[in-house]
Formats: sequence, structure tokens, C-alpha cells
Amino acid sequence: MTRPDRIESDGERKQVTVLFADVKGSMDLAEGQDPEQWRRIMQGFFSILSDEVRRFEGTVDKFTGDGIMAVFGAPVAHEDHARRACLAALRMLDDIAEYAAELRRKHGLNFSARIGINSGEVIAGAIGAGGDGAYTAVGHTVGLAQRMEALAEPGKAYLTEATAELAQGFLELDDLGEFEIKGASRPVRVFELAGVGAARSRLDLSRERGFSRFVGRDTEMATLAAGLERARDDEGAVVGIAAEPGVGKSRLCHEFLERCRAEGTEVFEAQAQAHGREIPFMPVLQLLRTYFGIADADGERIVREKIAGRSLLLDPEFAERLPILFDFLGVPDPARPAPQLSAEARQRALREIVCRLVSAPNRHEPVVLLIEDLHWIDAGSAAMLGELFVAVEGTPTLVVVNFRPEYEKTWTGPPDYHEIELAPLGPADTAELLRDLAGEDPSLDGLAELIHERTAGNPFFVEEIVRELAEAGGLEGERGAYRLAGPVEDSGVPASVQSVLAARIDRLGTEAKLLLQAASVAGKEVPERALELIAELERERCEELLGELIGAGFLYEQELYPERVLAFRHPLTREVAYDSQLGEQRAASHAAVARATIELNPERQDELAALIASHMESGGETREAAKWSARAAYWAGSSHPADALRLWRRVMELAAELPDDHESAALAVSSRLLQLQFAWRLGMDPAQEARLAAEAEEIARRTGDLHSLAMLKMATSARPGLDHEADAWLAAVGEVNRLADESADLPLRIALRAAGAYAYLCCGDFDRLESELDLVLELSGGDRSLGAGIVIASPIAWATMGKGVAQRERGRMDEAEKLFEAALRIATEDGDPETASWTRSNIALIKAMRGEVAAGVALGRRNCELTERLGDVFSRSLALSNLGAAQIAAGEHAEALEAIEESERIYREAMDGGGEMEAWRAAVRAEALIGVGRVQEAVELAEWATEVARERGMRWSLPTCLNVLGLARIAAGADGAAEALDEGTEVARQTNAARSLEAIEETRGKLAAGAR
Ligand SMILES: Nc1ncnc2c1ncn2[C@@H]1O[C@H](COP(=O)(O)OP(=O)(O)OP(=O)(O)O)[C@@H](O)[C@H]1O
Ligand SMILES: [Mg+2]
Repeated sequence: MTRPDRIESDGERKQVTVLFADVKGSMDLAEGQDPEQWRRIMQGFFSILSDEVRRFEGTVDKFTGDGIMAVFGAPVAHEDHARRACLAALRMLDDIAEYAAELRRKHGLNFSARIGINSGEVIAGAIGAGGDGAYTAVGHTVGLAQRMEALAEPGKAYLTEATAELAQGFLELDDLGEFEIKGASRPVRVFELAGVGAARSRLDLSRERGFSRFVGRDTEMATLAAGLERARDDEGAVVGIAAEPGVGKSRLCHEFLERCRAEGTEVFEAQAQAHGREIPFMPVLQLLRTYFGIADADGERIVREKIAGRSLLLDPEFAERLPILFDFLGVPDPARPAPQLSAEARQRALREIVCRLVSAPNRHEPVVLLIEDLHWIDAGSAAMLGELFVAVEGTPTLVVVNFRPEYEKTWTGPPDYHEIELAPLGPADTAELLRDLAGEDPSLDGLAELIHERTAGNPFFVEEIVRELAEAGGLEGERGAYRLAGPVEDSGVPASVQSVLAARIDRLGTEAKLLLQAASVAGKEVPERALELIAELERERCEELLGELIGAGFLYEQELYPERVLAFRHPLTREVAYDSQLGEQRAASHAAVARATIELNPERQDELAALIASHMESGGETREAAKWSARAAYWAGSSHPADALRLWRRVMELAAELPDDHESAALAVSSRLLQLQFAWRLGMDPAQEARLAAEAEEIARRTGDLHSLAMLKMATSARPGLDHEADAWLAAVGEVNRLADESADLPLRIALRAAGAYAYLCCGDFDRLESELDLVLELSGGDRSLGAGIVIASPIAWATMGKGVAQRERGRMDEAEKLFEAALRIATEDGDPETASWTRSNIALIKAMRGEVAAGVALGRRNCELTERLGDVFSRSLALSNLGAAQIAAGEHAEALEAIEESERIYREAMDGGGEMEAWRAAVRAEALIGVGRVQEAVELAEWATEVARERGMRWSLPTCLNVLGLARIAAGADGAAEALDEGTEVARQTNAARSLEAIEETRGKLAAGAR
């Protein structure tokens, strides 16, 4: 059983055209009349109005006392709602003029009416207590239509620019200029409805605007040409072209007909109209009129001559049927009236006439008949079509028809029938079309792919989106030569496209439509199981409805295994289905999507947390949204630092919306602390960093939260990336560890102790580094998950690597390499690309130091690539500077200089200072400078680096700085090389840095060699 209470909708957002019509000055008029009499007059007026509304399939929304309000495009959407409203208005004005003349004659009454029209979004639905009131449309669009009515002169219809935009070309409009309208924030351009325009179809409109270059369609053209060949052989052929709106049926036919004309083949065209289903024989009449060459301006006699001339030439026996034909085409011959026939007999006679014209024995030249848009054809014309198809057999006639997929053929296959299922344009053709429309400015790079994705290759959508972008200022310049001037992603659905798609959606049954709307909330694609849950439908019913949606071309089966996944065929359809829902319904669906995602994916919740959070948020479930965002942020962690930072910021914003309680306070504080974790990785505006820290501290102190206070201390005074002075840094680290130990929170103790150990490394205290890391390993007791992700994704991987660095500095290269390999393995296994990057940096360097220079450089390069993907500045800079160091060992000084300069540049760009590694980076850079012969610069830089390292107590870097200073001075022939090396030796001895000692000894050798 379905649960209608769940899927019933109370209303919808719809694009419609609203029409108001009323009697001008009805009070004054009524005053002079007997009330009964006046009532009759008004009833006559109302029935004129309602008849015309009905004729164009609009809805009379309400009677306003002296007029009506009508809506076109709701409850059922019509893609040409604006045009229908205008045509109805024109007919109303004509009918009312006649009626007024009659009233003047009979009652001496000066009766006149005025009409106002506007198009736009309304909320349409049952309004009233419990939603059981009458169906009506409400919104600003309605008010503005009413204002147009009030503005209109008697006997005229005024419309706004919104309607004009949609009806332009189909109707003749006089621009009256801009008007200040009460209730509208800006002046509104107003038009007067002047008559019917020249365009009959959308293709006419495109022609008027200038066709875009015709692209692709070679095979389809060939199929049509082959049909014509068969027709020439007196076989008679019919070709049907089926495609969704805007795919290019009419354009293909137009191009084909142009070719036929160019070859001298006669062609005749007709089309069914969207608003013409109620008007019998419109296309047949049109076909006959073009066949006989009848022009609008022709007088009745001329018309009769044209009809008689052509038909008698074909078949002299036609003479007796002429009166019926004259009558049908509206030019009865007074001398020869048509026989009195029943409607049925008359139609039969007509059908016969048309068939005889086609199969006339004297006809030898081939002709092409085109009948467009069969999906709108009236019943009478449809019946005639069936017979026509049979009649063409054996004649030199090609009939081409086109229709949209929803058209159900009423005829059974003509003998020679070929059908073309016209596909949307492929990416290459779309790109070519776009080049024609927009040009080839470099700023448009990538636009073609984006537009192809959004429009799914529908050329009408492509044209409209480009037009919309140009109008909204996203594209600058002129047609065929645009430049991109703004973002394209968030451009809306053009009104013209919107109405076409909304009309398609409205043809669905209510349940299927609601299901489509639910699917649109889930996203571009949605598993069937999820859809069942979201729509609360039984499996069978859901399957049935999906069948309908797939059949109608809205969805397709993107995957069948391991589960069925449905996807939207057109991204724009999804947008329209999504936008048509009222906020509340949409929110409920979002929350349902979130819950379905949770229920169906117990194994993948971390990965899907961000998606779940965003649905929860759109569903108005702020608390859930905050919790799931936090989960997503944890999961993104240091592997996706930019995402994590964004998500934590979101958690903070969401938490602020929650009532103040234990949980929201915890979210508020953790979201701030974890944002701070990214200050040293990505860089952060110092003011923002300070604000976050202050806010976090305030909350943590208020709730007495030791855990958070320890984290905060770490993030503010003990983190990497500050221009640390050794003693202060080490003191801060000590304080962090004290707070963490006091909190007795084991994971926190592990995480912070591991992270803090970095300070001992930088300060050259390798023993303490080792003992701190050993303690970390001991505390974890072999459980690598303890403390993971709090600061570093895998504290154990980092501890292992850190121990390796200590070994290397002591010159124990084999042990160091073993530890690095182990660290890399752990980092990879535990999903810590950050520590993996640092470890690869170290391996690259140690390989280069041990003489495997090619392998070292190659790994260093590879590491830069991998780290680039990580997107974090700290690690990227580190990877580059280590590559530089490896390249120096390999003698590639120019490359080394490039790498180290890039390392410095990206670090400085993102961060507030140079960080704890700046002296070391400068030393590496100075060494590269020596290599490329810029020795003077090298001396200065090495002096600066030494100074910085010495002053701040960065005693890991200091011996290296002094060694490079020695090298630079030797290279420059400057004094003081020996002094630098002596100081280096002294520091290295103190820190027990055997590797540095060795390097310095090597330099000393050079000094001695130079002195000799
Ligand atoms: N192959 C093509 N190359 C360039 N432009 C095209 C092509 N096909 C269609 N167009 C353009 O796309 C727009 C829509 O095409 P068309 O009017 O032929 O669609 P349709 O399938 O007839 O739609 P409908 O069902 O609404 O009548 C037109 O402006 C047309 O010029
Ligand atoms: Mg068409």
C-alpha cells in the first residue's frame, strides 16, 4: 500500500501566465441599469471570457465581481502558456468589441473591457483550511498581472516584459516603455498586445533571431534523401522523426526542405499547434492553402481560381468536388453552394479529396509534404493522416512527419515507413554549435563540456542557456564573440526551457510526478532502494512508477548491478522537478534522503557523511547536519585538508544555530579547535586564527574541558609554522603534555605527545625526541587507532618516522632507512597520506645522502606529485625542499634551486612567516646558489640562515646552516669559512649529530685543499 499522506503535495511552484480582465468603470455603468438587466450583461461578458480561457486550455481561477482572473499553465503546465494567454486576450478583445457594439445598439451602453497579463512563478494549489480549499495561484506574479489590468486603456491588453520575453515573435507587441508600478521594486517595461506575430513555431523564432550553424545530422539527412529517391520512383514514402522537444526535428526538416527546394522539388508544409488541439483541421487547412498557393491577401475569387486551376489540371474529375473544397477553405462559391452533408459525411468527402490530390493520375513531379508536431494534432486531421499515408503508395510523394515521444500513433504503418529517432547532439557537435553561438575566446575554455553536461546535447537548451548567460551578464560581447565574465555553474534554467520541461513533467500521473520530484532531491542519480524509502512506496508500486518515468524518458537505468540505480536523463529536468516543489515538501524529502542513505549504507557512512550532512541541512535538521558534518570533517582530516577545513567551518556555523547544551558546546569547541589544526597546514588569516582560539578557549573554560584546553594550547603555542624560539616552544609543548596527562584521555595523550615531539627534533634534542616517541609507542600498546586523526592521522606512523630521523641524524643510516620503510608502510595502511609524504621526503633524502642519487631524486619528484594532490601547503613545501636537497646531492643545482625557490614561495604565500624550517630551507637554497655560481648571494643567504637558526635555537638546522656558510665562504674566497665550520662542529657535537659532523668534515677537507 502506498502512503498517500506522505506523497500528497499541497502545492507547487509553477511558471504560469496570469490574465486579468474586467469591465472598465463597471460601477458607473451598472448605476444606470436595472440590476437584472446588468446581471444578464455581465453574464454575457463572463461567458465570453470563460470561453476564450477554455479554448486555450487555461483555468478560470476566480471571478472578481466585474471580471475574471485566469491562469495559463496550471494546474497542467503548457510550454506556451504566455502565447496562449495572449491569444486568448486577443480573441477576448475581438469578442468584447462585438458584444459592446451590440450593447450600444440595444441599450445605449458604453461598454469596454481591459486586460492585464504577466508571467512568472506562482504557488499553485488548494489554498484554504486543511488544504481542501479551491485550487488557486498566488504570488507576486499575480499581483503584477492585476496592476497591468489597472494600467490598461479600455479595449486594450497590456503585458509585462516577462510575458513579452516568452511571447515575442509569436505576437505583435508595442513597447510602451517603463512604468513605476506600485509593489514592484524596479520599473517594469510594459507592452501593448497589438496582434498575432509572424512566427508560428519556435523554429520561426530561431530563424528570426538568426539560425545557428547547422551541425551534424548527416545520417538523418541521408535517410530523408533516400526516402525522396524512393518517392521519385513512384513508390511513395513516409519518414517519421521522433525526438524530445528542442532536439532538432524541425531544424532537420527545414534543412532537408531547403535542399529539396534548391533542387526544384516542390514542398508543402503544415504543423499542428499546441493550442490547436481543440481547433479541427488546422494543419490540413494549412497544407491545402500552401498546396494551392493561397496567400493571406488573396480575395475570395482569386482563391477559388487558384484551387480550381491546380486541382483540375491534376484531375478533371475534380470539378464536382470543388464546392466542398471551396467551403472547407472558407471561400464558398455563391453560384455553386456545397451540398448539405452531415459532419461525418463532409469529413469523409474531405479525406477523399486530399487523397485524390495526392494520388492524382496526372501528377508526375515529386512533392514533399511536411507535417510537424503530430503530438498536437486534432482528431479530424489525425484520421485524415492515416488515409493520406495509404494514398501516397505508388505516387511520387514523400511525406515527412515529426513528433515528440509521447505521441501515440493512430495510424498503422504506411507501406514504406522509416522512422528516425533523433538523438541529441554529441559533445563534438555541441562544441561546434557553441563555437558558432559564443565564439572561441580562450576564456570560454571548458564551457562546451559544462554546457553539454547541463543540456545533454539538446540544441534548443544550448541556445537558450547561451542567451540567458548573455542576458544575465555571464557572457560579455556579442553573439559569436563572447567572453566569459562570470560564473556559469549557478545559472538558472531559462524560462523558455523551464516551460517546456515543466509541461513534460506535468503530463505524468500525480504519483509518478511526486516520485520524480523525490528523485530530484536525491540528486542526479539515485538507487532504487533509496527511492522506495524516500517516497515510502512499496517495491512493486515503485517499480511500476519507475517504469513510467523511464518510458517517458525522464530517467534511465544507469546501473543494474549490484543494484539498480536510476539517473536523470537531463540535468535540467532534475532542476525543474526540484524547483517545482514547495520548500516544506522539499525539506522533508531531503531529510528522507539523508535517512535512507544512512539506512542503506551502514558500511560507507564515513565516506557518505558529507552528503548525509548536506541533505540533513537542506532538510532543516540542523543538529544532525552538524554531527554528520563533523563526522565528514574527521574523515576528510589531513588527507583532504581543504575539505576538512571547510567542513569544520560548517560545523561551527551549524552549531551556532543550535540551542545551548552539552552537545552543541562540544561541537562548537571541537569545530574551532579542528579548524585551527589547519592553520599550519594551509595557512590562516591571523585575525581569524586568534578569534577561533579565543572563542574555543571561552567555551572550554566555561565547560571545564581539559581535553579542549590541551588541544587549544597545542594549536596556539605549540604548533608548527610559528617563528618559534626554542625555549618557549619547548615550554609550550611541556604544558600541552601536562594538560593532556591531566585529562587522563589516552588517545589525546598519544596524539598530542606525538605531535609535540616535533619541537624536540627542531631544537636538536634527538634523545628527547626518541624518548617522547618511545613513550607514544608504549602508551598506544600496539593499538594504532588510539589517538589517530586528532592531530595526525597516524601518530604511530609519524612516531616511527621521527625515530628514523633521530637515527639518521646520529649517522645510523641502515637503522634510519628501516624505520622509514616501516613508517611508510604504516602510513599507507592506516590511510595517512600526510605522514606518508613526509616519510617519502626523508627516504628520498637519505637515498641521495647514501649515494643513490638517481633513486633519491626520482622518489623526491614522485613525492611532489603525490603531495600536490593532498593540497596542503606545509607538506608540499616540505616535499619540494627535500627534493631540492636530494638534487643538490645529485649535482643538479639549477633544478634544486628551482625546487627550493618554489618551496619557499608557496610557503610564504600561504603562511604568516617562514616557520621553524625557514633557516634550513635558506641553507639548502644557499647551497644550490653555490652550485649555480651565485656565490655572493649564497654567502649572504647562509649568513642570514645561520643567524636565524642560532637566535631561535633551531639546533637541528644550525649545523647545516654553518656548513653551507663554510662552503659558500670557501666558494667566494671569503674569510671566516673555518670559523663557521668550527661552530658547526661544536653544535653538532653537543646535539650528537654525527651526520652533520661528517658533512662538516668533508667541507673542511675542501677548505684544506683550497689552502694548499
Ligand atoms: N543540428 C543542429 N544544428 C544547429 N542548431 C540546431 C540543430 N538542431 C536544432 N538546432 C536548433 O535548436 C533549436 C531547436 O530545434 P527545433 O526547433 O528543430 O527542435 P524540435 O525538435 O523541433 O523541438 P519541438 O519538439 O519543440 O518542436 C532551434 O533553434 C534550432 O535551430
Ligand atoms: Mg519542432
